[in-house]
Amino acid sequence: MCGIVGYIGTKKAVPVLIKGLLSLEYRGYDSAGICVLNNDILNVVKSKGRVKNLESNPELPNLTGSIGIAHTRWATHGIPSNENSHPHLDNSKEFAVVHNGIIENYTELRKMLEKEGYTFISQTDTEVIPNLISYYYKTEKDILKAVSLAIKDLKGSYAIEVISPLLPDSIIVARKDSPLVIGVGKGENYVASDIPAVLNYTTKFYFLEDNEIAKIDKDKISFYNNSLQPIQKEIKDIEWDAASSEKGVFADYMLKEIFEQPQVVMETIGSRLKPNEKCYFEDIDIDLKDINKIFVVACGTAMHAGLATKYTFEHFCKIPVEVDMASEFRYRNPLIDEHTLCIFISQSGETADTIAALKLAKNAGSKTLAVVNVIGSSITRIADYTIYTHAGPEIAVASTKAYTCQVVLLNILAIYFAESLGYSSKELENFKTEILELPSKMKIILDDTKLIEDFAKEVYTQPDLYFIGRNTDYAVSMEGSLKLKEISYIHSEAYAAGELKHGPIALIEDGVTVIGVATNPNLVEKTMSNLEEVITRGANVMVITNQDIPNMKINCNIRIPKCSSMLSPVLSVIPLQLFAYYIAKDKNLDVDKPRNLAKSVTVE
Ligand code: AGP
Ligand code: GLU
Repeated sequence: MCGIVGYIGTKKAVPVLIKGLLSLEYRGYDSAGICVLNNDILNVVKSKGRVKNLESNPELPNLTGSIGIAHTRWATHGIPSNENSHPHLDNSKEFAVVHNGIIENYTELRKMLEKEGYTFISQTDTEVIPNLISYYYKTEKDILKAVSLAIKDLKGSYAIEVISPLLPDSIIVARKDSPLVIGVGKGENYVASDIPAVLNYTTKFYFLEDNEIAKIDKDKISFYNNSLQPIQKEIKDIEWDAASSEKGVFADYMLKEIFEQPQVVMETIGSRLKPNEKCYFEDIDIDLKDINKIFVVACGTAMHAGLATKYTFEHFCKIPVEVDMASEFRYRNPLIDEHTLCIFISQSGETADTIAALKLAKNAGSKTLAVVNVIGSSITRIADYTIYTHAGPEIAVASTKAYTCQVVLLNILAIYFAESLGYSSKELENFKTEILELPSKMKIILDDTKLIEDFAKEVYTQPDLYFIGRNTDYAVSMEGSLKLKEISYIHSEAYAAGELKHGPIALIEDGVTVIGVATNPNLVEKTMSNLEEVITRGANVMVITNQDIPNMKINCNIRIPKCSSMLSPVLSVIPLQLFAYYIAKDKNLDVDKPRNLAKSVTVE
């Protein structure tokens, strides 16, 4: 899941590469390294840990030159250490490679190369790549050819950058199942795992597809298929501005992204929804009368957005919806055919399990629709239809604004489906108005965060926390619990409130904290009774509600604006995001880069 960046031009490469790495650190931060080509020598500097360690490495100023590649690692093979850090060189020190992905057959390749006399200094899968390129170069005497032959031998996933004194004016890049974009400048070009890494320098990008290779010079980029036949690619203009990938006045990206939510939700609604007009998605032409089942497939927070919106599709479109984790869906032979619509949700558009599930659904003949944030990402290129959330770059590892945008967009999609199926009702019209009111209601919650901050201070030392709710409140409880685990490392579980008595209530004892979400007018009494039961057993309770609730011994009562229970996750998730954030801050943790996690899970 590492981040890679590359530069070729006339500027000094190191500052560009460091800046790129810093913005890619959300993809991994076990170690970082840079290789710059200067006077026919590949100079490498590596440091264990964060990019800032590399930045302050006393050897870094020795790297002068205007062609370089860099890497921030999320270790898959081999512990985080200097030897295992990228860039890796071949034995003759003629090829430097950075790699994002996993080479599944690296053991066989290593054995084969060892027989040929190659030696290895790292435990990584990656180190076979520069040596394989060197092996083929010996016979081919052509780097592009050697790279294309080497990658043909690789099983697994890769985005690679290669530089060599034998081709001193180029960077060679190639990809399969790992992301890679090429940013186009004037007299200089950039490579990165993700757009924000180089958004400061350009808004014009090429998206490399699987099995494609590019030779990047400072004023020319040539593309090839894996048989090295030249191909033409289209350049895309990205509308994101560089400032949207910077922290600004906020202490952390996560906090900035939480506070951006009213704005990005407004942008996601955009012109898709207008009062008294039918919803319209230009590019979707699915015959919904032909669809008898919808699967919503995603991972983590994106999957929670599916759980939160299943109710809207079922309620307004009368089509059964099943929500599944992509990692389960892909291995369970789901019953899908041409009458099934599979919706895939992903912020990054690069999640390995979601991509595999999408490919499986497509092969089974189902219609596929993707809800994605990152323009041009892999999922958008595979799915039959893509609709975009307009959350802008989400940098913090813990997803916040992407979730609220996904929930809003899926609700709008459900309205569109219902209207396309011929349903119309006063309720549907009111629902549209409620969606349009969401950004201002989100602002109200963000205007006063004191109660949440104070409650976080009270409970941040606890070892366990529980979240309960029913219906959409249960879905949002799962998201609240995930947020807390991810950034505060506190063990937490979310339960459907009605399930408490079937086991989990045994965990409740004096002083345990339970967070109840109760926004559904039909279910508020039920959830409040469940909270009463845990209070009786000594629990310390925070409740998030927009309903009249009975007078009970609640330690923290967070009032949020009223809205349809199908939309309440967009509002009720905000106090939960803030709660997780403040707890992590109280514990003095790095909220943007939680341990063991990476933003984009491009390996299985
Ligand atoms: C969110 O806070 C997580 N870090 C994670 O669960 C994430 O939502 C999941 O990996 C899916 O990512 P995607 O939306 O980019 O596909
Ligand atoms: N497999 C490589 C390593 O462990 C790259 C890891 C990745 O891209 O996640 O170094």
